[in-house]
Amino acid sequence: MTQRAVLNTDIRKGKINRNIYGHFSEHLGRCIYEGLWVGEDSTIPNTKGIRNDVVEALKEIKIPVLRWPGGCFADEYHWKDGIGEREGRKRMINTHWGGMVENNHFGTHEFMELCAMLACEPYINGNVGSGTVQEMSEWVEYLTFGGVSPMSELRQSNGRQEPWAVTYFGVGNENWGCGGNMRPEYYADLYRQYQTYVRNYGDNHIHRIACGPNSDDYNWMEVLMREATRFMDSITLHYYTVPGPTWDKKGTATGFEVAEWFTTLEKSLHMEELITKHSVIMDKYDPEKRVGLIVDEWGTWYDVEPGTNPGFLYQQNSIRDALVAGVTLNIFHKHSDRVRMANLAQTINVLQAVILTEGEKMLLTPTYHVFNMYKVHQDAELLDLTLESGTYSFDGHEIPEISASASITAEGVIHVSLCNLNHEASSIVPVDLRGLAGQIVEITGTTLAGQTIDAHNTFSQPEAVAPQPFNAYTLEGDRLTVELAPMSVTVLEIKPK
Ligand code: AHR
Repeated sequence: MTQRAVLNTDIRKGKINRNIYGHFSEHLGRCIYEGLWVGEDSTIPNTKGIRNDVVEALKEIKIPVLRWPGGCFADEYHWKDGIGEREGRKRMINTHWGGMVENNHFGTHEFMELCAMLACEPYINGNVGSGTVQEMSEWVEYLTFGGVSPMSELRQSNGRQEPWAVTYFGVGNENWGCGGNMRPEYYADLYRQYQTYVRNYGDNHIHRIACGPNSDDYNWMEVLMREATRFMDSITLHYYTVPGPTWDKKGTATGFEVAEWFTTLEKSLHMEELITKHSVIMDKYDPEKRVGLIVDEWGTWYDVEPGTNPGFLYQQNSIRDALVAGVTLNIFHKHSDRVRMANLAQTINVLQAVILTEGEKMLLTPTYHVFNMYKVHQDAELLDLTLESGTYSFDGHEIPEISASASITAEGVIHVSLCNLNHEASSIVPVDLRGLAGQIVEITGTTLAGQTIDAHNTFSQPEAVAPQPFNAYTLEGDRLTVELAPMSVTVLEIKPK
């Protein structure tokens, strides 16, 4: 089949919320400790205990929102253990993740400081599974109340005079599983109760987020929307790309066969069906689309790296992960009328991380580069793009060879992101830039490609997979023809007059 894309540069389909480019950092393995927090006395360069190299790298990709403290950890986190003099903070066992002793040195003040350094919005996930209504209510008061109150005074006694601005607040996490093994009917009632006490103080307006389904649990979505739509601003969805047949055999991050390359991409494309079907249920109860869908955990999940703590979920990140990121972000764009936020799991050293660290060393993963290349889509307007993609097949299965998305900035600059999923063949895509004949002044591009299906960066070769300038295109009138390398992610910038 001949491939063809038509970009209608004058048909705008709504804003791509920058929060789709959000991240998630849990108290898990080396994400918070070492990845973000090294402590003020560390020899690793830091500001107030937070490592400088990581902050600079995350600022570069314009991280818009950061979810914390979990994850499963959120439903056993008691926020008062993480305030006050650090040395006096209570220690706890992180039962979900490796049974490590959590010293609570990274708590509310440290997280809010990190968000200030990153100039990103905090998204705090409260504890429903093992916490009380009072505890959640007091956390919000501690964070956001400026007047005279016990929690406001406690905050001030811990050195923070003014309240913080907090918009995004999650009422529980995976309450169908690690967050309490609840039935949707039970959680829906608890959600209604807990969120009542998540108060708006002063000018601070909280966006209340209900725990949504795992993957294709459409019944959970149905019950939550039926019972609690009017009490929520958003509901979550979790979906991980696990190449292997079972959780015990997830597959390795590197050293895999072509079959696993294919399955991984096939499974990551499943996000499209999940969002579409969950949106149908949401439309039934919320036809005005007031409630957002927040995919606050997504990404690849492989077997941990050999020799590492199985509870730390540390995995390498290859060009395959870059493709997963590219196609998934394109899917989120397409559904940006409903998908208002997404949070890749997880920022550093855990699952599909954008950054890996080893002591004082840091490297940027192929996934990081995709987020950097795609940041131009943040808050841009989605453009109408019709794609007739060729197919990419393996072992009797077929998926589209190309994934694409386009947007236009407030200044009128167009960006087109294109992924070639094919591991061995380059792909030629003619793109009709309808409405731009004779108006194009400049086309530039960046591409990320791999030489092998598991090409990745290591601490000895941190630039093995890195973005390169893209010139493999021709332009005749308004017909742009691009040649995409095998297993590549490309972003074009088109500047009209
Ligand atoms: O991201 C790792 C874990 O995956 C999270 O803690 C949990 O919410 C999910 O099951």
